[in-house]
Amino acid sequence: MTSSYGLKGRAAVVTGATRGIGRAIAGRLAEAGARVCVTARDPAEVRRTAAELDGVGLAGDVGDPAHPRAVTELALGAFGRIDVVVNNAATNQPYGPLMDVDPANWREAFAVNVEAPLRLVQCAWRAWMGEHGGAVVNVCTEGAGHAGPNVGAYGTSKAALLHLTAQLAGELAPKVRVNSVSPGLVRTEMARFVWEPGGEKVAAGLPLGRIGEPDDVARAVLWLASDAAEWVTGADLLVDGGTRVRTAYPGPGYAVGDFLRSYAPPRS
Ligand SMILES: NC(=O)c1ccc[n+]([C@@H]2O[C@H](COP(=O)([O-])OP(=O)(O)OC[C@H]3O[C@@H](n4cnc5c(N)ncnc54)[C@H](OP(=O)(O)O)[C@@H]3O)[C@@H](O)[C@H]2O)c1
Repeated sequence: MTSSYGLKGRAAVVTGATRGIGRAIAGRLAEAGARVCVTARDPAEVRRTAAELDGVGLAGDVGDPAHPRAVTELALGAFGRIDVVVNNAATNQPYGPLMDVDPANWREAFAVNVEAPLRLVQCAWRAWMGEHGGAVVNVCTEGAGHAGPNVGAYGTSKAALLHLTAQLAGELAPKVRVNSVSPGLVRTEMARFVWEPGGEKVAAGLPLGRIGEPDDVARAVLWLASDAAEWVTGADLLVDGGTRVRTAYPGPGYAVGDFLRSYAPPRS
């Protein structure tokens, strides 16, 4: 195994890759020698990111049913192959108690967080992976493992993504490995409403003493996407600084849930 993790010359699609965790993932894959196709809604950010990574990009909402096919066609046209799919784009809306959730907003959360990953894997499977093999990594959340204040729709959709990961791992083996990562609190735009008011306090309560940076998650995704993980499928890798351990062994400091009660994310 070389330092390229066996990714040199391969092609990857990363959704939601213009900032935060997705950008770090796309950067790590490109650094390892993969050609990358990035997506996000903002066209200028997609152009900028694709140029930075010497890749290609498509602007659009992953929740749009036509988007996965368009991304697949772009990547296949540009690179002639799709070896890696990283389903990273997600929404943390609707936010609030489940008793108040509007059904349309609930469906949108599931369209973006669950249906879009399935559709993209279906397209990549039919276009390339079903014959040639590949690896899928879904970005879930540590919070999918338990309930939390105001994040019922997000958590339920991510728990569905965890199940989808296991199900696809069974259905697509041995050609395609399907795994997930579950990050704890990471310093990105999506989680700003938590870490800006409470990051230091959350960090003080974590076994590893700090909140996450996007690259903490990217390095885990790089490993799962690479041949270094060739005997790993259906796994969920917690990348959470010990958040789950803290839940089992509560210590001093604050948990993320303490802040979810008090602050809400802006709608994106
Ligand atoms: N940050 C955390 O603490 C944390 C913790 C656990 C799990 N996660 C998970 O990590 C993943 C990445 O989150 P992040 O924190 O890196 O978020 P982020 O910094 O807000 O970045 C999200 C990226 O996805 C794109 N995006 C958002 N909605 C999209 C949509 N509907 N269609 C296409 N692209 C979309 C955004 O660009 P546009 O706005 O231009 O579309 C951006 O490139 C998500 O799956 C999230 O659930 C994050």
